[in-house]
Amino acid sequence: MKKFKSLSALLLAGIFAFSAVGCGGGESEEAATDTALTNTPGVLVWATNAEFEPYEYREGGEIVGIDAEIAQRIADELGCELEISDMNFDSIVSAIATGKADIGIAGMTVTEDRLMNVNFSDPYVNAGQAIIVAEDSEITGEADLADKTVGVQLGTTGDLYVTENISGVTVERYTKGFEAVQALIQGKIDAVVIDGEPAKAFVASNEGIKLCDDYLTVEEYAIAMNKNNDALLSEVNNILAEMQEDGSLQAIFDKYLNSESSDATADEEVSDEEGSDEEETSADEEAPVSEQADGEDAGSEDASLAAEE
Ligand code: ARG
Repeated sequence: MKKFKSLSALLLAGIFAFSAVGCGGGESEEAATDTALTNTPGVLVWATNAEFEPYEYREGGEIVGIDAEIAQRIADELGCELEISDMNFDSIVSAIATGKADIGIAGMTVTEDRLMNVNFSDPYVNAGQAIIVAEDSEITGEADLADKTVGVQLGTTGDLYVTENISGVTVERYTKGFEAVQALIQGKIDAVVIDGEPAKAFVASNEGIKLCDDYLTVEEYAIAMNKNNDALLSEVNNILAEMQEDGSLQAIFDKYLNSESSDATADEEVSDEEGSDEEETSADEEAPVSEQADGEDAGSEDASLAAEE
């Protein structure tokens, strides 16, 4: 018992010593430069692509959304100033890998490929690819996409999935998800494949398009960091666990998801797998990964990335 106590005291001391070298804005003389958690001490550079409501998007000149709030919380906890670096989605991984940014939060799915170049935090939400079509379209699901022209955002898991799994498809790649939706509205393409919540946001704000019921994939969003920065990885995982425990993660999701999809976040109503028991709510899976705080087996069964391959 005693041993245990002193060990945990030691651990705690370690944690405190550790947090002292976070960002700290030059306060602590001892916050040696070699242990800084970020590339520029005192600053956390957040790489994102603010074209992805409700995760990150522009509102009145500001970048807001679920990921924006998570990024701000991480910066605050580390004692850093948050600097936003808005870029094309397919540049984020390399920005992290080359040290141009410290964290990538962009509704970014954990994939084997990306794991070769960056570390990922524990997942903070489950998601999946949805299909948007014109209101009068005959396309009702994945099988109908064969031989069609499908729009995706360049370099996303939607791009990957459609390219690898739909036979005879013509893939039109756009830098912004919105451009794909515009092309759909103009009748230039037959469908758009994009993540569920952004898909719902596009359908809500544009006439003449609708969502198909089925989702094509089951994915997990996580935060990307440099492979050589395990210290930041563990800090970020601690902060995410804390946000889960104190309810703030759920509160952030509630704030951004409630208006459009009233039942998307209530824990009891969330099911990761099921398509839809209700007409418009097949995207129910998008709620924080709630088992995550329990450790390893976090979401292992309901968040397989098998669909990626
Ligand atoms: N979840 C998809 C992926 O990781 C799409 C993410 C797009 N995010 C964005 N901010 N545009 O590939």
